[in-house]
Amino acid sequence: MNFSDLIEKKKQGKAHSEDEINFIVSSYMSGEASDAQAAAWTAAVYFKGMTLDETVSLTEALGKSGKIINFGELGDKIADKHSTGGVGDKVTITLIPLLAAAGLPVAKLADRTLGASAGTVDKLEAIPNLNTNLSSGMIVNQVKNINAVIASQADDLAPADKKMYALRNEIGILNSAPLVASSIIAKKIASGASNIIIDVKYGSGACMRTLEDARELANLLVKVAKRLDKSLTAIITSMEEPLGRAVGHAIEVIEAIEFLKGHCDNGDLAELTYAIGAATLLHMDLYNNDAEAVSYLKNLVHSGRALEKFKELIIAQGGAPDVIENYDKFTLPAFKIQCEAKKSGFVQNISADNISCAAKALGALRDGMSKPVDLSVGIYLNKKSGEYVSKGEVLFTIYANTEESAKIAQMYCDNAFSVSESKPSRNSLIYKIISTKDEDENV
Ligand code: URA
Repeated sequence: MNFSDLIEKKKQGKAHSEDEINFIVSSYMSGEASDAQAAAWTAAVYFKGMTLDETVSLTEALGKSGKIINFGELGDKIADKHSTGGVGDKVTITLIPLLAAAGLPVAKLADRTLGASAGTVDKLEAIPNLNTNLSSGMIVNQVKNINAVIASQADDLAPADKKMYALRNEIGILNSAPLVASSIIAKKIASGASNIIIDVKYGSGACMRTLEDARELANLLVKVAKRLDKSLTAIITSMEEPLGRAVGHAIEVIEAIEFLKGHCDNGDLAELTYAIGAATLLHMDLYNNDAEAVSYLKNLVHSGRALEKFKELIIAQGGAPDVIENYDKFTLPAFKIQCEAKKSGFVQNISADNISCAAKALGALRDGMSKPVDLSVGIYLNKKSGEYVSKGEVLFTIYANTEESAKIAQMYCDNAFSVSESKPSRNSLIYKIISTKDEDENV
């Protein structure tokens, strides 16, 4: 087989066999195929698509390209929540301790900051000394000891996915449904998760920009999971506006801690955390009524048990738990600039895309996989959609390390907000939930 012939085949829109997909993945991993060749093949897939059979083959080839974590007798109980990524999306940090407090063993292989959104691994590393670089043995032990782990994708777990995902980020091909579906489920094969909940986002701050694309991805995730005998629920949610109020790394962790302390039970962060949490409990047949599941989860937050679990996770991963009580323990940036509203009215919308550009200008987002990100900078949305702001009141706050980056970020944030007299109606964040348990998975 020859890699160049396979690029040509995909350019002509023809389907690969399983052997051909295995060859593509193994030659890229071994270095026989160059980054340029893999990029050309990826671009051909982006434009010509893949059949379900090809997507399943790619998922297996990526997932089995390294070690597979074995949780032994806990195997079919392991839950994992994944998001396709969004601006201000810190739900992994709010939800994993919450599910673990509910008694579920949760093993989360998280991503670093890529594309338009900050990744959970980088966010957690804003906690002094916290280690996300865990071996498979450490992951298994931590889940057995405290029910929860959030680790980065170690080099030996789905390494082919790691290499291809980084390449796709570099060449701007993140939003291809077969590539995203295979990348996500491959990680779940490697991480040994059997109950998978995926938040499939659409909107200006998501890799899938339209509802149509998100629906296509959600349907595909369910179909691929069914073929691979994995139990999966996909929740299609809006990412037109940043989630919660904080966008960055350290400031997102602080907002997540505030949630776990029971200080933000209203608003979109709480809505989504409880909705995905309840969907997980329903998916695992632990509850059959959404409202009861939500009320149980709220109780875990308000009794302090979810926060306690987060503290256990920080300690287990070598981090400094005193950040929970003292936010000054996070590294703080040089400048805090409070920006005022130029007119009075209701906030109609906050463009996630513009806020992401502001975060990038501040240095919170990463261009290439090996480049550093500044964990201390970010944007705080003092007002969210539907809230009233008076002229001169603080609309947003910028945390920056240089005056120049703050100026650029302020310009993007000014453009992100639209304010007018009428109170906007509030749309639900959640469009639809589909699952491998449904007879007909198409939405
Ligand atoms: N998340 C992943 O793990 N992979 C993608 O391709 C996109 C989002």
